[in-house]
Amino acid sequence: MKKCLNDPIFKLISSVADSRNMPAFVIGGYVRDFYLGRVSKDIDIVTLGSGIELAESVANKLGDDVKVNVFKNFGTAMLKYGELEIEFVGARKESYRIESRKPIVEDGSLEDDQKRRDFTINAMAFCLNKDRFSELVDPFNGISDLENKIIRTPLEPNTTFSDDPLRMMRAIRFANQLNFIIDDITFQAIKENKERLKIVSAERIVDEFNKILSTLKPSIGINLLAESGLLDEFFPELNNLKGVDEKLGKMHKDNFYHTLEVLDNICNQSDNIWLRWAALLHDIAKPRTKRFSDSVGWTFHGHDHLGSKMVSGIFRRLKLPLNEKMKYVEKLVQLHLRPIALSQEVVTDSAVRRLLFDAGNEIDDLMMLCEADITSKNEKTVTKHLNNFRIVRKKLVEIEEKDAIRNFQPPISGEQIMEVFNLKPCQYVGDIKNAIKEAILDGLIKNNYDEAYHFMLKKGEELGLKPAK
Ligand code: CTP
Repeated sequence: MKKCLNDPIFKLISSVADSRNMPAFVIGGYVRDFYLGRVSKDIDIVTLGSGIELAESVANKLGDDVKVNVFKNFGTAMLKYGELEIEFVGARKESYRIESRKPIVEDGSLEDDQKRRDFTINAMAFCLNKDRFSELVDPFNGISDLENKIIRTPLEPNTTFSDDPLRMMRAIRFANQLNFIIDDITFQAIKENKERLKIVSAERIVDEFNKILSTLKPSIGINLLAESGLLDEFFPELNNLKGVDEKLGKMHKDNFYHTLEVLDNICNQSDNIWLRWAALLHDIAKPRTKRFSDSVGWTFHGHDHLGSKMVSGIFRRLKLPLNEKMKYVEKLVQLHLRPIALSQEVVTDSAVRRLLFDAGNEIDDLMMLCEADITSKNEKTVTKHLNNFRIVRKKLVEIEEKDAIRNFQPPISGEQIMEVFNLKPCQYVGDIKNAIKEAILDGLIKNNYDEAYHFMLKKGEELGLKPAK
């Protein structure tokens, strides 16, 4: 195995700590990641004494351009050195973290500090002082939990989770990211403490949730969130997709598991977190649009439109960005049925042109979402859909080459229309512009100036307008 504490920075911190007679340790994620073979750029140093003073001495040694950021209230200090971010803190008896709701804490021993951390695998430390340099200090046997792939709290889990309820999300996030199992007693405590998540800010919750969404197979984490009851605490709309109804022998699919399947499918194709959000939300309005009729069975008419309308409320509550990322998700949710509908009919050029016009630059992601949305177990159905999508994709390329619809710019502007017919801004201008666009999308004319100009004259004539001389 590679030697730990290889980076020369550790020797430097070691000599500074020795010269000040301060016991110092690397602790937490860096140690865990070392054993997992991952390189971490975040280093947490814990010392018995003032973390701020140790940070300042280290910065002095590193040179004038290294600045220390001090967070006095929390007794922590951070410095950046090259790519590394190194945080220093004095060992505490209470919860260690910056964001802790109870930041005023007593000094403690290393073990006091370790037992106030979230999980055994995050509570391991390497000693930095010369006489014990690189020795592992692991009072809760994190190393064996790491080997056995187990997430477990160092203390009785109710204590660990009441220190910081976000840790319940973190347990699931680590289980998902690292492919670990959450120990039974720890998982039981999550179920019992789920309501405590209410005191955690939406920003911190969604940060963990996005880490779950960024894993290779987020369905694992989201299933654990649902099973523990946490999902219902912060994302009831997603939880509500669960369940199957039956009437007159007719059932619909469980939209929760379907959604997770679509999400996993997308994750095999793309790292784009917003595309992943679109997959997660594509059927979000199904519970609200669900109807039953004897003749057709279950329907979810309009779930694309209502779903797209629900996006902003969900983004606002979860403190996700209300910007073009949200608009992108809204657009994909709104359009997610279009390619499927299209591929079920004879694929006409004008339908493809309209799809391209509405989707614009998002067309490739939309097609990816639609392919991911085919989760039928019936191989024949899957093959049929995929073949149709292939035809749609081919047509999309042909039409785009011919008509350049993807970033549609009207070939004739409103100003030009006003000039030709000597008009002030009025309804006619919009009507003619729109008629030109529709004619292009219907394939009546090509997307170029000359054809659009002639069409404009014809349209003007129909409306009783005369070109100015
Ligand atoms: N920690 C904790 N409780 C929290 C957050 C953090 O006990 N709610 C402790 C853990 O010891 C953790 C360390 O602080 O290892 C650093 O936390 P952080 O940087 O948030 O996480 P990492 O464990 O480094 O993992 P990641 O970078 O993947 O978030």
